[in-house]
Amino acid sequence: MTPFKPLLLEAVGVADGHALASYKSRGGYAPLEATLKNKQPVDVVEMVKSSGLRGRGGAGFSTGLKWTFLPKDHPGPIYLCVNADESEPGTFNNRILMEDDPHQVIEGIVLSSFATRATTAYIYLRYEYPHSWHRLQGAIDEAYAAGYLGKNILGSGFSLDIYLHRGAAAYICGEETGLIESLEGKRAWPRIKPPFPAIEGVFRKPTVVNNIETMACVTQIARRGVEWFKSIGVPADPNNPRDPGSYGPKLYCLSGHVEKPGCYEAPLGITLRELVDHFGGGVWKGRKAKAAIPGGISMGLMTEAEFDTPLDFAGPGRVGCLGLGTAAVVVIDEQTSIVDFLHNSCRFFAHESCGQCTPCREGTSWSLRMLERIRAGKGRLKDLDLLLELGNTMGMMPGSTICGLADGAAWPIKNAITKFRGEFEDHIKRTNPSGWMVTDPVPALQIVGAH
Ligand SMILES: Cc1cc2nc3c(=O)[nH]c(=O)nc-3n(C[C@H](O)[C@H](O)[C@H](O)COP(=O)(O)O)c2cc1C
Ligand code: SF4
Repeated sequence: MTPFKPLLLEAVGVADGHALASYKSRGGYAPLEATLKNKQPVDVVEMVKSSGLRGRGGAGFSTGLKWTFLPKDHPGPIYLCVNADESEPGTFNNRILMEDDPHQVIEGIVLSSFATRATTAYIYLRYEYPHSWHRLQGAIDEAYAAGYLGKNILGSGFSLDIYLHRGAAAYICGEETGLIESLEGKRAWPRIKPPFPAIEGVFRKPTVVNNIETMACVTQIARRGVEWFKSIGVPADPNNPRDPGSYGPKLYCLSGHVEKPGCYEAPLGITLRELVDHFGGGVWKGRKAKAAIPGGISMGLMTEAEFDTPLDFAGPGRVGCLGLGTAAVVVIDEQTSIVDFLHNSCRFFAHESCGQCTPCREGTSWSLRMLERIRAGKGRLKDLDLLLELGNTMGMMPGSTICGLADGAAWPIKNAITKFRGEFEDHIKRTNPSGWMVTDPVPALQIVGAH
């Protein structure tokens, strides 16, 4: 692998790296000062748009383009919601940024608010992150005292307040409209779109929702420039008009059955194998890998033979996964049962479905019931086709649900059954040799404490 100097993670391991003095000694807040002095909001939007930055929260949508969806000349207020809910299994890159370099995130928030003309920013923080809360609040207090937040920032005439909001401890709170509902004090039930948040978001006002790592990337672009950002990553595929390229550094979370789990920074487009071997020290205990989830559990499953796939926004889709997602890789070794993996995945989504949409509510709980039956030695071979049918019909992509949770629930089912069908068939034949449908009732659903 070509040597690569981490920048998003520059402060990790630095004594007091989270403090304002340390951040400023690394050049922090100089880009903000220069921007407020010399640039207009539209210049910052143009800079981020031409950098090719795509949101790091999961969907990979162009950040600059999203900002242009805000209505022009709106009297305000306009809000920025920074998504720090980080509930996708295996994902912890936002936590590292908030705890080890909170000012990098805050500087990105001020720059993004200036660009979008937002005068209030909310950081919606995962409930289970108390240390991030303290680090962020400490940094926000320091930034106010130094004039980087509050009224008339650095004499520029631009004002911004940041509020930390503790989340409601559910996966669905990370979905942007669920987050907005929760921020407004309601149950985190995603809203039907349109209207999209850019038109009607928090308190029915124009709102941008962006991820924490996206904010850190905005800071880096302002500091190092568009050309630097575009020199890292994978350019657009000329044969695919829907691929705008995958630019910039990326934080990859690596966990599961590897020797050295952790959060690693690399150029977008590193292969899954490079990540596991170079950063992760290989599969643990000298074993071989069987599979990996490429970007959070909702992105599906890759086989070991697919490990040479680049982890850019387009790569995982080429091997039948949903996408790059949060770039959180979880490695599954050869001794782990894919039946157990899928049971665990179905348990998670059945627990986290908010229940508004029938295909999601019923689909996630029925897939769990089927997996429970298969694991209990009462499965039938035709259950595999039933599961596949479920996976192919529930979800936003078939057009039947309000949010993407159902897609995320469907992809591990589809990938596990198609890529590991032989293992499911062996399990069913071994544990239920007669292949008969069992007559005893399926036990009541037990999904308490799924995570
Ligand atoms: C079920 C579900 C959960 C989500 N959870 C998160 C999350 O925890 N953090 C996040 O940034 N985005 C999450 N998203 C994506 C957000 O809806 C939204 O696309 C993202 O915050 C936009 O930020 P970005 O453009 O900077 O990526 C989730 C989406 C879905 C469908
Ligand atoms: S898809 Fe599932 S989680 Fe999303 S709104 Fe519908 S029921 Fe709720």
